[in-house]
Amino acid sequence: MNILLTGGAGFIGSHTIIELDKAGHDVVVVDNLCNSNPEALRRVAKIIGKEVPFVEADVRDRAAMEQIFTDNKIDAVIHFAGLKAVGESVSKPLEYYENNMNATFVLLDVMRKHGCKNLIFSSSATVYGDPAVIPITEDCPKGHCTNPYGQTKSMLEEVLIDVQKADNEWNIVLLRYFNPIGAHPSGTMGENPNGIPNNLMPYITQTAVGIREELGVFGNDYDTHDGTGVRDYIHVCDLAAGHVAALKAIDRKCGLAIYNLGTGHGYSVLDVVNAFMKVNGVNVPYVIKPRRPGDIATCYCDPAKAKAELGWEAQYGIEEMCRDSWNWQKNNPKGY
Ligand code: NAD
Ligand code: WQD
Repeated sequence: MNILLTGGAGFIGSHTIIELDKAGHDVVVVDNLCNSNPEALRRVAKIIGKEVPFVEADVRDRAAMEQIFTDNKIDAVIHFAGLKAVGESVSKPLEYYENNMNATFVLLDVMRKHGCKNLIFSSSATVYGDPAVIPITEDCPKGHCTNPYGQTKSMLEEVLIDVQKADNEWNIVLLRYFNPIGAHPSGTMGENPNGIPNNLMPYITQTAVGIREELGVFGNDYDTHDGTGVRDYIHVCDLAAGHVAALKAIDRKCGLAIYNLGTGHGYSVLDVVNAFMKVNGVNVPYVIKPRRPGDIATCYCDPAKAKAELGWEAQYGIEEMCRDSWNWQKNNPKGY
C-alpha cells in the first residue's frame, strides 16, 4: 500500500517508516517539523537504503494537503501529527486544541474529497484516565483526562467514531499507545525531546549521559509494589510494527476498530531505573520528589485483542528497551 504518514519525522513516525518499508509498503511523509528534525528522515533513509518522500507542510494547510493527495495515490493515512507535551498543553490549551483538532479536521476533509477513507489514528492510554480496571481492556470505559493534550485525543476519538458511523466506507483504527520508549537497535535513531524531558526514559538517559544532574522520582507513596508509579513501557519498534499489523484491519474493511498497543507488563519507575543501570552498567542518580499532579498509580493494558485480531504482540522486553534507549543517547548525546 501507499501510506501517508502525518508527523512521520517524529519519534514514533520515523520508526514506523522502517517497519512499513520492511513489510513492502511505500510511504510519503508530511510534517511541519515543529517537534522534529529532518535528520531523522536521513537516518531512516540510511537504514532502508532509499530516500523517504517528504513534504514539509502543516497538516492544517489545506492547499498543501490537497496537493499531496493530487500528486500521490494514497491508500491509507497514519495520523501521528500532533502536539504531545502534557505539561505544555496545560499552559497552552488553545495551541493544543487548535493544532490537534484542526489538523485532524483538515486531514479528514481532504481524505474524503480524494476518496481515501482508510485511517490509523495515534491515540493514547491517556483516554482511560484513572482506569476503572487493570489490566486495561479496550472496552474499559474512557475516563477523565486531566489535561488538554489528553482531551484532544479523547475528543478526536469521538470525532472519528462519528465520521465512521455516518459513512461506513471509512475504515478507522484507533491505536491506544501505552508508554513508548527504546530506540532503533542501530543506535542511530531515537527520541529527541526539546528542552527538559517530560517523560521518564529521556530523563533517565540524559541523566546517565550527564546532561541532567539527577532524576526526580515523582512520588514513592503510591499503592504499587515499591510506591512508585507503574506503567506499560513498550519498545518503539514494537509499536511501529503494530501499525503495520493495523493495516491488516484496514485491509479486512474493519469499519471502526480500537486496539491497545502495550506489552501487558507493568514496571515501576524504580524498576525501570534499576533495569537501566543493570543492563547498561551506568549510574542514574535519583531523588524522591513529590507526586506530579495528574499522575495515576498504575496503568498497563491487556494486549490480547491486538494479538487475536492483528497477530501482533510486543517482542522486546524492558532490558532491550533500556539497552536501545541508552545506545541512542550515548551515540547522540545532543540528539539529531
Ligand atoms: P513527535 O512529536 O515526535 O511526533 C509528532 C510529529 O508531528 C512531529 O514530527 C511534529 O513536528 C509533527 N506535527 C505536529 N503538529 C503538526 C502539524 N500541524 N502539521 C504537521 N506536522 C505536525 O511525537 P511522537 O512521540 O512520535 O508521537 C506521535 C503521535 O503519537 C502523537 O499524535 C502523539 O500524541 C501520539 N502518542 C505519543 C505517545 C508518546 O508517549 N510518545 C503516547 C501516546 C500517543
Ligand atoms: C512515567 C512514570 C511518572 C518523569 C505520558 C502521557 C501519556 C502518554 C505517554 C502521550 C510516571 C514518572 C516521569 C520523571 C518520574 N503520552 N516520572 N520522573 O505520564 O505515564 O504518560 O506519556 O499520549 O499521555 O501522560 O509517562 O514518562 O511522563 O511518566 O518519576 O522525570 O515516570 O510520575 O509514574 P506518563 P511519563
